[in-house]
Amino acid sequence: MGNINLDTDFYESEDPIWNPALLTIPVPGIRRMVNLAANLEDVIHLSIGQPDFKPPQHVIQAGVDAFQAGQTGYTMDAGLPELLEALAEYYGHRYQRPLLPENIIVTTGATEAIYLALTATSAPGREFIVPDPSFMLYGPLIRMNGGVVKTVPTRAEDNHQLDPQAVIDAMGPNTYAVILNSPSNPTGTLYPRETIETIVEEAAYRGIYVISDEVYDHLIYDKREYPSVLSCCSDLDHVMVISSFSKTFSMAGMRIGWLIASQGAIKKLRRYHMFTTTVANTPCQWAGVAALRGSRDFIDNMVGEYQQRRDRLVELVEQTPHLTGYRPDGAFYLFPSLPEGVDGANVALKLLKETGVCTVSGDTFGESCRNALRISYSTSLEQIEAAFDRLIPWMEKQQFS
Ligand SMILES: Cc1ncc(COP(=O)(O)O)c(C=O)c1O
Repeated sequence: MGNINLDTDFYESEDPIWNPALLTIPVPGIRRMVNLAANLEDVIHLSIGQPDFKPPQHVIQAGVDAFQAGQTGYTMDAGLPELLEALAEYYGHRYQRPLLPENIIVTTGATEAIYLALTATSAPGREFIVPDPSFMLYGPLIRMNGGVVKTVPTRAEDNHQLDPQAVIDAMGPNTYAVILNSPSNPTGTLYPRETIETIVEEAAYRGIYVISDEVYDHLIYDKREYPSVLSCCSDLDHVMVISSFSKTFSMAGMRIGWLIASQGAIKKLRRYHMFTTTVANTPCQWAGVAALRGSRDFIDNMVGEYQQRRDRLVELVEQTPHLTGYRPDGAFYLFPSLPEGVDGANVALKLLKETGVCTVSGDTFGESCRNALRISYSTSLEQIEAAFDRLIPWMEKQQFS
């Protein structure tokens, strides 16, 4: 509980020494739940946002080899040249889009790429269109720099699909960028090619940027194709595509991500990157080269395992009173709704205290889905079954009206 008090002190402090922009950063809902869970016994976490697999052995070995070989200095500011080459080749092949190393900057996880993209472009009066619910980083980073967040809600009844016409209707003279995240955290929703193409085309026509967070680009089920923004845009003039090794190769703690954009945009971001983290972790960039150049078996096995869990979770949610689910096509999240008007934060808290099942409430991800719970299936089938053995009887006893 000590940590929770610390958070409260920090966010409620009126100490004038701090930049008021920090007030745009909300108390993180996930931290609050996980901190509380740390003080309880026998907790089952359906709250985890990182893969539960070990990275492939050849990737670990490449990192160890890099340490042994003394690859412990700074790299070039844009990233390790071998990694930039490998990324350009990899993407060129995946989407038949020729890329140069000069179109890429390597960052400390996708998080730094998101930070660079949003804080380098957000300014007072500029509007950014963001789906709601969405990953919690985008809004605060935009607001911190005076930008305005214009949300486009998505709903469980529509499998949380984004309506491209609603995005176009939200565009106006002050719109600077549209943020996309497919498949999405927290909904697992994969946007079809028509959605991405319609938004990208309209944005390009109006000179609006599309900033696409594609960190779950390999966690796609039922052998669906992945419509990356890179495969839907005619040029890179108004797009920034972000991804990382965190989810695809289960390398979240190794902190290697990247951003792909026009050469002009990359030049500007390189300068900014010098003033944030300078360069990303060097041995882990070598591990990344091995990941891109190595076998795909790891990804295929992982996706097979996640798909099985997704299938079972969809069944379990269907059997759970008061929860309305859907079938997500990607990532490792399901974002079912409780009845309209129910406060998901209260339910998640009570559920954790009374059953030890830890979920994350919808208000962590925006305003439009306060009655939702994010359930992560980045945990074993056994744990998922055990969690629902507790959750279903508990829900049967709840009365929401
Ligand atoms: C949508 C989304 N973007 C970015 C990130 C951060 O990724 P990274 O570990 O590469 O910084 C996450 C992590 O959970 C995420 O869910």
